[in-house]
Amino acid sequence: MNFELTEEQIMIQQAARDYAQRELIQDVLERDEKCIFPERHVKNLSELGFMGMMVDPEYDGAGMDTVSYVLAMEELSKVDASTSVIVSVNNSLVCYGLQKFGSEEQKQKYLKPLARGDYLGAFLLSEPEAGSDATSQRTTAEEMDDHYLLNGTKNWITNAASAQIYLVVAQTHPEKKHRGINAFIVERDSPGISLGPHEDKMGMRSSDTHSVMFTDVKVPKENRIGEDGFGFKFAMQALEAGRIGIAAQALGLASGALERSVAYAKERKAFGTEIVNHQAIAFKLADMDLKVENARNLCLKAAWLKDNGKSFRKESAYAKLYCADIAMEVTTEAVQIHGGYGYVKEYHVERLMREAKLTQIYEGTSEIQKIVISRKLLED
Ligand code: CAA
Repeated sequence: MNFELTEEQIMIQQAARDYAQRELIQDVLERDEKCIFPERHVKNLSELGFMGMMVDPEYDGAGMDTVSYVLAMEELSKVDASTSVIVSVNNSLVCYGLQKFGSEEQKQKYLKPLARGDYLGAFLLSEPEAGSDATSQRTTAEEMDDHYLLNGTKNWITNAASAQIYLVVAQTHPEKKHRGINAFIVERDSPGISLGPHEDKMGMRSSDTHSVMFTDVKVPKENRIGEDGFGFKFAMQALEAGRIGIAAQALGLASGALERSVAYAKERKAFGTEIVNHQAIAFKLADMDLKVENARNLCLKAAWLKDNGKSFRKESAYAKLYCADIAMEVTTEAVQIHGGYGYVKEYHVERLMREAKLTQIYEGTSEIQKIVISRKLLED
C-alpha cells in the first residue's frame, strides 16, 4: 500500500496552503462578523483552478484527482470554512453532477463556465419539509409542451444569491414517489425566482445562505438531467461525492484547531512552564492529533476509491460522519486549551468550533451517514 502523495498532489496542497495562510486569513474575522461574501477570494481561487478541480480539461477544468481536492479542501478549511464550502458545493455537487450525468450540450453550455469559475453553482435539494427525508420533495416540475414549470420553495441553499446556475430537484410524477423526481439546470435570472432573507448563521457566516422560491419558472426540457425520473438518484450520487468534500472541510477545521493549539501550548506559560509541558494539555493534544490522523486517512481512502472507479458510498459516509464528529470534539478541546483566549474571536478557535457544528448537519446529518452505512452493510 502506498501512502505517499505524488509531486503534483503536494504542489496542489502547498498552493492551497499558501493561499489560505497568506490571503484568506487577512479578512476572515471581518467577513465572519459582517457576513461578507468572499467575492475576491472566489475569483482568485477560480484563477488558481480550484473551482473546477476535478473537471476534465476538455470542459475547462483543472483535471486534478479527488485526493488533491481533499488536500486543498483541508488547507482552505483550516483558515476559512465559509470560503471552502463555496468551493466544495461548486466542485463536488454541481460540477461533479454535471460532468457525470449531464448531456454534451449541458456540459458545453454550463459545465465549462462553472469549471472556469465564470459561473458559480448551487445545489437545491432541501425544502422546509424535506431535509433529511429527501424523497418528500414538494417542489413540483410540471411537464408542459416544450418546458417544465417549477413551483415551490427550497431551503438552506448555499450560494443562493451569488450563483448563476442552480441544480434543482423537483417532483414531476408524485404517484411514483422518489422515482418521479427530476433534476434540472436552472438559470438563476429566470423570471419567477425570488430569494428569502440572508440567513444569520452561527458559523460559516460569510457564505450566503437563503431560501429560494419558484413561481411558475419555465425550464427548457433540454435542461433536465438524465432520463425522466432520474432526479433522486442524481441527487444521491452527487451527495455521495459531495460528502468527501465536506469530510475534508471538517478535517481542515480539526487540523487547523490542532495547529493553533500546539502553537499556543508551546508559548503560553502557567505554573512556571509552557503549558505543553503539563500532561493535562499534552494528553489532549495527543488525542486531538490521533483523531485528525484517522480523519485524514478516511478522507483520503474515500477519495482514492473514487479516483480509482471503485464504490465509495460507505467510505464517503464514514469520512463525513467521523470527520464532522471529531471536528466538533477537536475544536471544542482547542477552545479549552486556549482558556479565556479561546472564547474571544481574535484567536480564531471559537470560530472554528462554530463552523465545525455545521459539518454535522449539512450534506446529511451524522445520523443520516449512519443510515447510509448501515444500509450498505446490509446490502453487501
Ligand atoms: N446512489 C444511487 N442510488 C441511490 C443512492 C446512491 N448513493 N442512495 C439511494 N439510492 C436509491 C436507492 O437504491 C433507491 O432506489 P430504488 O427505488 O430503485 O430501489 C432509492 O434511491 C431510494 O433510496 P432509499 O430507499 O434508501 O431512500 P430513503 O428515503 O430511505 O433515503 C437517505 C435515503 C440516505 C436518508 C437520503 O434521503 C438522504 O441522503 N438524505 C439526506 C439528504 C441530504 O444529505 N441533504 C443535504 C442537502 S445538500 C447540502 O447540504 C448542500 C449544501 O448546501 C452544503
